[in-house]
Amino acid sequence: MRTVLISLLLGSCSSTVQSFANAATSTASSRYDENMSDDKKLLVADEASEKLTPWANRWTNNHIGFHLNDVNPVIKKYGPRYLTTSSDEGSTTSTVVKNDEVCDAPDHDKNKRIKRAKRVFVPLCGKTVDLAYLTDLADEVVGVEGIRMALEQFAEEQAQLNVSLETTTKDGFEKFQGDKISLLKGDYFELDATKTEGVFDFIFDRASMVAIDPKLREAYVDVLGNLLAPGGTILLVVLERQGSEEAMKQGPPFTIPEATVRELYEPKEWVESITFLEKTDQLEEKPEDKERYPDLDHLYELVFEIKRKA
Ligand SMILES: C[S@@+](CC[C@H](N)C(=O)[O-])C[C@H]1O[C@@H](n2cnc3c(N)ncnc32)[C@H](O)[C@@H]1O
Repeated sequence: MRTVLISLLLGSCSSTVQSFANAATSTASSRYDENMSDDKKLLVADEASEKLTPWANRWTNNHIGFHLNDVNPVIKKYGPRYLTTSSDEGSTTSTVVKNDEVCDAPDHDKNKRIKRAKRVFVPLCGKTVDLAYLTDLADEVVGVEGIRMALEQFAEEQAQLNVSLETTTKDGFEKFQGDKISLLKGDYFELDATKTEGVFDFIFDRASMVAIDPKLREAYVDVLGNLLAPGGTILLVVLERQGSEEAMKQGPPFTIPEATVRELYEPKEWVESITFLEKTDQLEEKPEDKERYPDLDHLYELVFEIKRKA
């Protein structure tokens, strides 16, 4: 019912979101109405692309084991460090952070934290609750996601953000606007700072770089490089597999050890520093995940800070 409504909003689209997943082999032109504008046709075709069809299938079949119901512990721990400042350090605004969860970082006195004026980007955002959490820490949060169903679910589940399903479309991206949040529906690899209406002070990459085809990693990093403001920070969370030779090749999530992070980012002239922050074994933290990864001995979560030159 919900999907039919969205299809109507798109302008008499002749198929539903589900059909993107089910009709991967049919031509894009068979899946939209001739009266649909060129921009909307492009959006419909996007979900049927080689890159996005497997994800459309996952969302349609609710195979979204990557989605966490709670705010990611990494962003709770480190987000305040980058997005707020203590009142002693001075700030550009005088807004005191009210959310109790804001100051979990051990070196923060939560009563003294003050929000800095910040623009935050979340690549390949899915329907992560981290987006909502970040709206408490930043002035504006922008996410990009290829699958419409994910954004529809986000709008419904995070109703307090008033994300409208009446979207606008520009440059091949459909924009879902809410309070302090914009969600762009389209292909991440087509994104640039014009389409995001500016660059970002902070980027939170969790389960995103590990999700894409390893052949596209170089292009993935270049897009982030174009979106990160001078002096900005990427908080990067990747997974490193350890197990049989076969299990090492599988994904998503694809394995990204520290050496790969460094190979990808160190040669970029805009990178000032790459700092390894922590490593935890997800199979120890969440023993229930062992069922999802029976061939792995370890699934390490690695966290990095990547800083851009000022
Ligand atoms: C593993 S999920 C991670 C979602 C989110 N970061 C989280 O922590 O829950 C990867 C997401 O990227 C989306 N995605 C994959 N390739 C994409 C692309 N080329 N452009 C936009 N979104 C894409 C998928 O639909 C999926 O929702």
